Amino acid sequence: MRVSVVGLGYVGLVTAASLAEWGNQVVGIEASEARLSALRDGRMPIFEPGLDEVVQRNRESGRLQFAGPDAMSRAVHRADIVMVAVGTHDGHGGWQTDTISSTLDALVPMLGAGTTLVVRSTLPPEYVASLASYVEARAGENSGPVPTILNPEFMREGSALHDFMQPDRVVIGLVSDETGLGQRALAELYAPSSAPMVVLPALDASVGKLAANLFLATKISFANELAGICDSYGATIDNVVASMTYDKRIGTGFLRPGVGFGGSCLPHQVAMTLLDAQSREVHAPLLAAVKQINEFQPRRVLLALNRMLSGLHDARVALLGLTFKPDTDDLREAPSLRIAQHLLDAGARVVAYDPMPAARSSAVEQVPGLDVAESPMAAMRDAHAVVLATEWSVFRELDWLAAANIVRNPLMVDGRGALDAAAMTEAGWTYHAFGRGTHQPVTRSESVMVNVQNASAAIAHAEGALDGGHTR
Ligand code: UGA
Repeated sequence: MRVSVVGLGYVGLVTAASLAEWGNQVVGIEASEARLSALRDGRMPIFEPGLDEVVQRNRESGRLQFAGPDAMSRAVHRADIVMVAVGTHDGHGGWQTDTISSTLDALVPMLGAGTTLVVRSTLPPEYVASLASYVEARAGENSGPVPTILNPEFMREGSALHDFMQPDRVVIGLVSDETGLGQRALAELYAPSSAPMVVLPALDASVGKLAANLFLATKISFANELAGICDSYGATIDNVVASMTYDKRIGTGFLRPGVGFGGSCLPHQVAMTLLDAQSREVHAPLLAAVKQINEFQPRRVLLALNRMLSGLHDARVALLGLTFKPDTDDLREAPSLRIAQHLLDAGARVVAYDPMPAARSSAVEQVPGLDVAESPMAAMRDAHAVVLATEWSVFRELDWLAAANIVRNPLMVDGRGALDAAAMTEAGWTYHAFGRGTHQPVTRSESVMVNVQNASAAIAHAEGALDGGHTR
């Protein structure tokens, strides 16, 4: 099929590249000259694993082209499907719909008869409610009614290509599609995914998109609260969650406690839905609690450090990981930045490391006073304590025995529960993670080799070696 994708941000670029990979003829249209020239030069404006290879392969084959807005008229007139994937964030935690409105103002009159308009941007439900009339008012005289579909995306940064090509479902929100042409076009487009298609009124599709993220956020805040409850009893969250998730009603994902959910989607959509609920006088105490718990998680890192160090003033803290999750260069709403700011406010010195150079330089701009290092070991040198804020695999693979010898105190707050508690105490660290308590180091003379398959075995082993050294 011939597809035009308008807006080559995170969603648009992955969508365009994936559709080309499926054999479609795709033109990606981007208004930012800097982004467009980077793409034309073969440089990716975002980091997403595997994206550069897919883009390169499909550009070489001629299936994927990039163009500026001046080429929009030609590209969209000939397209079977035009997808709009422009941003709807205002950059300050709110919605903005000016970009999508001006895009539709320019685009809709150019559409030819038989072209389906697909909106992939995440939109406030109120905007979706007026979308059909907005498009209808701008349709060109020759095109007739424009089949218009809302097609929300469910792509996680870091695994966006996989999530596009092998989605759990494809949601088709019917904005206006009297002849069924739009629905048929999308069925053909998504045929390679063999995912179930869920066809809904557009408003339900838009609320369904938000609701999926709200539920994921709720699961994470539940896990974070549960971690505190586990700590109070001396139970281990990993085992508690593992036992729960055998129950298919509960589901396995998004129950890892940590420093909180970040990124451009979950925090924004929780906050915006809550604001809307308030203005509509809808009682939404659960969402309010989800937000509140999330905002408190970075402070829990400080509380743990404060207790372990008996004060933070003049402490040197190494912060490992800056991006809001691994395998992305995205710092938006990253909990690491809040942790860094809280630590600096408490009088600590913070030296951070992240595998993404762009994240390091951007973090320094966003958090005045933050220092960054070029390697994890350099960040940890002479540190009084180490905080792991993002579970990059490079941190799991570090030589923690060597690291214990270059820090001033081998104290670790593993904010993502990413490391093996027994291996860390074996390597000489005092190890704390939410819902796993605090584990004291195994002294070398008492050291035993442990090769653990699960956290409970690790902890039982360490406890045995230490005779009660696992403190809570
Ligand atoms: C999220 C959704 O997962 C996607 O389905 C959706 O398409 C996307 O938003 C969007 O609306 O565009 P994303 O923001 O990339 O994707 O990140 P997630 O993988 O959802 O993670 C969000 C945050 O939750 C991260 O900070 C992560 O570290 C945290 N998290 C995740 C936890 O703290 N615990 C968990 O168990 C899982």
